[in-house]
Amino acid sequence: MNTTVESSKQGKGETQTIAVRSTGPLAGTVVVPGAKNSVLKLMATSLLTDGPFELTNVPDIADVRIMGDLLEAIGVEIDRPEPGRLTLTNTGNLTPVAPYELVERIRASINVLGPLLTRCGHVRLSMPGGDDFGARPIDMHIAGLEAMGATFKFSHGYLEAFADRLHGADIRFEFPSVGATENLMTAAVLAEGTTTIDNAAREPEISDLCEFLVAMGADIKGIGTSTLVIEGVAEGALRPVRHHTVPDRIQAATYIAAVAVSGGELVIEGARSEHMTMLLDRFGDMGLDISATEEGLTVVAPERLRSIDVATLPYPGIATDYKPLIITMLAVADGVGIVTENLYPGRFRYVEELQRLGADVRTSGHHAVVRGVPRLSGAPVKAHDIRAGAAMVVAGLAAEGETEISGVSHIDRGYDDLVGRLAAVGATIERRP
Ligand code: EPU
Repeated sequence: MNTTVESSKQGKGETQTIAVRSTGPLAGTVVVPGAKNSVLKLMATSLLTDGPFELTNVPDIADVRIMGDLLEAIGVEIDRPEPGRLTLTNTGNLTPVAPYELVERIRASINVLGPLLTRCGHVRLSMPGGDDFGARPIDMHIAGLEAMGATFKFSHGYLEAFADRLHGADIRFEFPSVGATENLMTAAVLAEGTTTIDNAAREPEISDLCEFLVAMGADIKGIGTSTLVIEGVAEGALRPVRHHTVPDRIQAATYIAAVAVSGGELVIEGARSEHMTMLLDRFGDMGLDISATEEGLTVVAPERLRSIDVATLPYPGIATDYKPLIITMLAVADGVGIVTENLYPGRFRYVEELQRLGADVRTSGHHAVVRGVPRLSGAPVKAHDIRAGAAMVVAGLAAEGETEISGVSHIDRGYDDLVGRLAAVGATIERRP
């Protein structure tokens, strides 16, 4: 992968740390880059047809480099001619094998399954990795593809899938899985006949993928709703396209959380309020004054945040990825808040780190009770996953003295220059070798 940034194998985040201190009010503008959880899927979808794709608003993050390396191993040439722009040239000479060394590093590698199966009729894929917050099964991906005519074999840590030509099917999910919706949708695009996915996930990143597929020549109805109807088209009907990646609502929320605990006023340029409606309502309940403008959001922090109760749910509910940020905000809010996790029961590991900073948080099963304290107290802490890592940075902004965060490679997986962007609006933050 010819990039202007370091290769996926040379991440310095393994040894580097981020040091952050409470600074006082933040001021200025932060530009939100494209969404990790969209761009990785757009990249995988380039497997569906030959030729040159171009993606813009591409975040400079480790997961994009890892997905690039995975696609190169399969047969897609990747280039990053300038920051934010990625070209992917599907050579048509595809090896439908996704090797362990790359697949185990990101969950989104599972997204090559649907396109490769429908395109090549055979895939050999190591079981996907990702974050350290509990089991993340792929049974819904498999059951859906089986309903479309695929057969599966598991051996030696590899999943093998076979299909002559997939056919349409009526699929109803028990739970609106993001990854399963994406995989079935990208498989159905070239299947014979009509596929209906009921109780489909409808995150903004799914709609972004739908729009990308439609621009390529796919026939998809119900975009943005929980029922997607995909009419299969012939392989020759698809063409490569240019696409601008949807902005990252989780990164946008991270900068809102930063100003919320620091005080001050930030313009979050590029943030799309319509993608974050429920979260912004709840942030309003916490005392933040948020207004949508043409360029994004303007956020004014209150003197002190107020506590609220929150439960995570699939979109349009409050995303589980916001939760570490919300718990950090509650840790310094006035009152007691109860947070209920409905997606990943194991996603509370960072709470121990927050406790090291003096936060009063107790967990029981999938609930956390957070009693706000006026200030946290800086200490060395660890980032256990992408969002937990970002929450540690936000916690450091609310802590007296220095907070030094290790495990920075997790943050680098999903955040494009978090340190630089926060420093530019007045935070005392640096990356240390
Ligand atoms: N699930 C199953 N079986 C399946 C698929 C999912 O039981 O076949 C369960 C999972 O175990 C989990 C829940 O359903 O409890 C949610 O899984 P989903 O498939 O919706 O999530 P995902 O596609 O694996 C994406 C994001 C996550 C984000 C979730 C939920 C990517 C690469 N990852 O994961 O993002 O938390 O949706 O919104 O898109 C992150 O960016 O830090 C991150 C973890």
